[in-house]
Amino acid sequence: MTPDDHADFAAMMRRTPGVVLRTADGAEATRRYLERNPGLSFVARPPDGQGIVACAMAGHDGRRGYLQHVMVDPDYRHLGLARTMVDRCLTALLEAGIEKVHLDTLADNIEAHRFWRHLGWADRRDEIVKFSRVLVEDTNA
Ligand SMILES: CC(C)(COP(=O)(O)OP(=O)(O)OC[C@H]1O[C@@H](n2cnc3c(N)ncnc32)[C@H](O)[C@@H]1OP(=O)(O)O)[C@@H](O)C(=O)NCCC(=O)NCCS
Repeated sequence: MTPDDHADFAAMMRRTPGVVLRTADGAEATRRYLERNPGLSFVARPPDGQGIVACAMAGHDGRRGYLQHVMVDPDYRHLGLARTMVDRCLTALLEAGIEKVHLDTLADNIEAHRFWRHLGWADRRDEIVKFSRVLVEDTNA
C-alpha cells in the first residue's frame, strides 16, 4: 500500500459495513502512517486495476504490532484474500522484530470476531481495560 492508494482505500472503507472511517484515515495521516511503517500494509486490486478489493494495514511502535483495516470487498470474500494479506502483515512485523500483535474490532461485529477466532487470534482479554483520550476537538478523531 502506498499513499497513492488513499482515494480507493477511503472509498472502500466508506462502502464496507463494520468499518468506521475516522479523521485519522485522511490522506495526510495515512501517508504519515505508511512512511512510519514501510512495507507493512497491503492492498489488492482486481486485474483491471480499478479500485481496491482488499486491504490490510499494520504498524508497530517498536514493541507491539497493530493490525487495522482488514477488509475485503463482498464480491471477493472467501477466496483467501484476507488470510493471505494478514499473513503478509504478520510476516513483515515478525521480520521487524515484533513478536505480539493486537487488533481492535467493534464489539457488535460478530462476523469479524468469528473470523479472527478462526484464524487463531485470542480474544476475551478480560484482564485488559482500554482507555483512550482524544487530544483535539473532533468526536471522530
Ligand atoms: C472478515 C473479512 C476480512 C474476511 O475476508 P475473506 O477474504 O473473506 O477471508 P478469507 O477468505 O481469507 O478467509 C480465511 C479463513 O477465514 C474463514 N472465514 C472468513 N470469514 C469468516 C467469518 N465471517 N467467520 C468465520 N470464518 C471466516 C474462511 O472460511 C477461511 O477459512 P480457511 O482458510 O480455514 O478455509 C471480510 O469478511 C470483511 O471484509 N468483513 C468486513 C470488514 C470487517 O469486519 N473487517 C474486520 C474488522 S477488524
